[in-house]
Amino acid sequence: MATSCGFESHRPHHSYTTTKGCLLVSVARICNLKVDSNVTNKARPMASADQLKALIKAYSQGDDAQFHSIAMQIAAGEARVGHGKLAEELRELIDKSRVRLPSAGPSPIPMARPRGEIADLLTVTYPHIHLQDLVLNSKTRKTLDRVIREHKTIRDIRAHGLAPRKKLLLVGPPGTGKTMTASAIAGELSLPLFVVRLDRLITRFMGETATKLRLIFDAISQTRAVYLFDEFDSIGSERGLGNDVGEIRRIVNSFLQMVEQDASDSLIIAATNHPAILDRALFRRFDDIVQYSLPSTNEIQTTLKFKLAGAKTSTKVNLVKLSALAKGLSYADVTRATGDALKHALIEGRALTHADLLSSIAERKAALLHRNSKR
Ligand SMILES: Nc1ncnc2c1ncn2[C@@H]1O[C@H](COP(=O)(O)OP(=O)(O)OP(=O)(O)O)[C@@H](O)[C@H]1O
Ligand SMILES: [Mg+2]
Repeated sequence: MATSCGFESHRPHHSYTTTKGCLLVSVARICNLKVDSNVTNKARPMASADQLKALIKAYSQGDDAQFHSIAMQIAAGEARVGHGKLAEELRELIDKSRVRLPSAGPSPIPMARPRGEIADLLTVTYPHIHLQDLVLNSKTRKTLDRVIREHKTIRDIRAHGLAPRKKLLLVGPPGTGKTMTASAIAGELSLPLFVVRLDRLITRFMGETATKLRLIFDAISQTRAVYLFDEFDSIGSERGLGNDVGEIRRIVNSFLQMVEQDASDSLIIAATNHPAILDRALFRRFDDIVQYSLPSTNEIQTTLKFKLAGAKTSTKVNLVKLSALAKGLSYADVTRATGDALKHALIEGRALTHADLLSSIAERKAALLHRNSKR
């Protein structure tokens, strides 16, 4: 179904679609009847091949208005030739197909796919991960739990004239779970995740960023989802902007204004590795500032356990020693080291050993030292 914000929605398991499908099948049967029936029969059904083609086209394009208009024409045609019962049945199906489920609330929303101009600005995924897939400190978990609970109860919260917390700024070093958090929130709420790559948006649409931001905020208000503004510091930084300070100010001001006006049920999540270069005014617009940090040795141990779950390991794997060695790595580094070790063991057709993990962690540490020495 096309919506004015430039999204196509698909309702694969939606009762609305099912009823429309029924209607389509009924009409197809009528046409079949026509083909089979004697051509000399004056009171034959009226659905023509053109009508059927137009109906299928409207259905596949999600053009509701056109779909209903053609279906009504067919029903009227049946009534005219005295097929009152059939006409009545068709009208009932048409009426049913117009009934939609309420869109607010935590129930899964229609699949949405950006099209046209907005498709250049957003990428969509439908995450299935949950908060429990992340290793988080208890404060961060509590903050995120509260946001999710508020969105699961959004109908009641709105009914009392209140607004759920919905604007989060995630701050922390690379590979600590910011993007994964946005996915997990979308997964928990069965919402699509739209990622806005601000850095690309700004460099690609120099001078037009405010207009493009408007398009994104129109989408935010019209399609309930989680919107992740990744690399959020791009709008507070002069890097990549050719030092056009005027443009930066315009972008920051537009963002501040739009985020302030937003009254939708969507969640707006911004993520950054460089909070220091963000305009202070931006911080005030968020309901929660969520801090991420490199994992402690305990958190590394939990991560190793998570990532090794289901893998065939030799009994001599010492997670305590490995966690101490891995200190300083990010969750992403630990995840990659575990994956590398596991692949190595699989290639050799044996169980994963302590030595496999030791060598892949040492490799990651060396890469980290190399990265740091280049800074
Ligand atoms: N807290 C975490 N718990 C478990 N796994 C994690 C966590 N953080 C990161 N990972 C692992 O590392 C991968 C990359 O993490 P993610 O993309 O969320 O990092 P990020 O904070 O967004 O980094 P960047 O700042 O570079 O964008 C994840 O897909 C996941 O496998
Ligand atoms: Mg990220």
